[in-house]
Amino acid sequence: MPVVSIHEPVQEELAKVQAALDAVKRNEFSLLEGMLGNVLSASGKRLRPTIALLAGRFGEYRPHLLVPLAASIELLHTATLVHDDVIDASDTRRGRPTTNARHHNAAAVMLGDYMFAHAANLICQTESIEVVKLFSRTLMAMASGELTQDMSAYEYGQDTMAYFGRIEGKTASLFTTSAEGGAMVATATPEHIAALRAYGDNVGMAFQVVDDILDFSGDEAELGKPVGSDLMQGTLTLPALLLMERHPDDNPVKKLFADNHSEEHLAEALFMIQNSTILDESRAVARDFRDRAVAALEPLPDTPDRAALIDIADYVLSRQQ
Ligand code: IPE
Ligand code: IPE
Ligand code: MG
Ligand code: MG
Repeated sequence: MPVVSIHEPVQEELAKVQAALDAVKRNEFSLLEGMLGNVLSASGKRLRPTIALLAGRFGEYRPHLLVPLAASIELLHTATLVHDDVIDASDTRRGRPTTNARHHNAAAVMLGDYMFAHAANLICQTESIEVVKLFSRTLMAMASGELTQDMSAYEYGQDTMAYFGRIEGKTASLFTTSAEGGAMVATATPEHIAALRAYGDNVGMAFQVVDDILDFSGDEAELGKPVGSDLMQGTLTLPALLLMERHPDDNPVKKLFADNHSEEHLAEALFMIQNSTILDESRAVARDFRDRAVAALEPLPDTPDRAALIDIADYVLSRQQ
């Protein structure tokens, strides 16, 4: 399933989201305008705004409030990518050079901050203090998730529970907010808001598990970003954790973390992960989250919009980019 077919049901509103992002690009400082232009012109998959727009159809449909919500979420997401690429020292994103590669780390940090501020300004256009609260809590959860990951880099004694906690914060929380925020703007019933929240959380978890699999198996050109870097950065994701579970006493991850510059241990870890059933097992975990996401939608009426949310959950599993 190509990503464009996911967008199809909300194409009109997505064009308005794009217009709102284009407006962010226009800035009185030409240097900032150039940097924003570079970051915001390379379009990502727009998964989060698509979810927000669809969730906003389960209640009173209010596009004038939903579009700023979706734009704010996409801007917040893009800001986290600008910062994440500094943290991960990545030079490519969405098939283009990152801000840290084009300029330098300090410039990328400030650009990200500016985008966060702009996202906060946009979220206020929803005119809902509850949505603004949700936004601020999400920002905290994402920052804590990334911080915890950074603080625990090269730390061997981690388990899958800690991993799930981290990815819940750094990634799933924004998917949750996309779905829940859309439903809140639509003043959906509490039962429907809860259903969409649970959907967003589980789709987000599936999304990051798949992202972590793609870091071992994906194609750099197709993904538009570097692969194979998580373990090198000392980040333990599900495939590496499963390898450690299988070989608790002696495994290359343990050796790599003890001697973090060893190309040999890294190559051995990659080989063992790629030539075992570990990636299939990881895909089964992602599928389980996808199933939970779909099951969470049960209380919602069986409409094309609900079917579109299911399509997104399926796309998250099959994506190669
Ligand atoms: C990338 O998210 C960051 C992660 C949470 C893994 P996306 O893959 O949704 O990024 P874009 O917006 O499509 O580039
Ligand atoms: C997701 O983690 C980062 C954010 C939530 C910002 P990754 O570090 O795996 O994301 P990619 O792979 O660089 O897109
Ligand atoms: Mg990264
Ligand atoms: Mg990744």
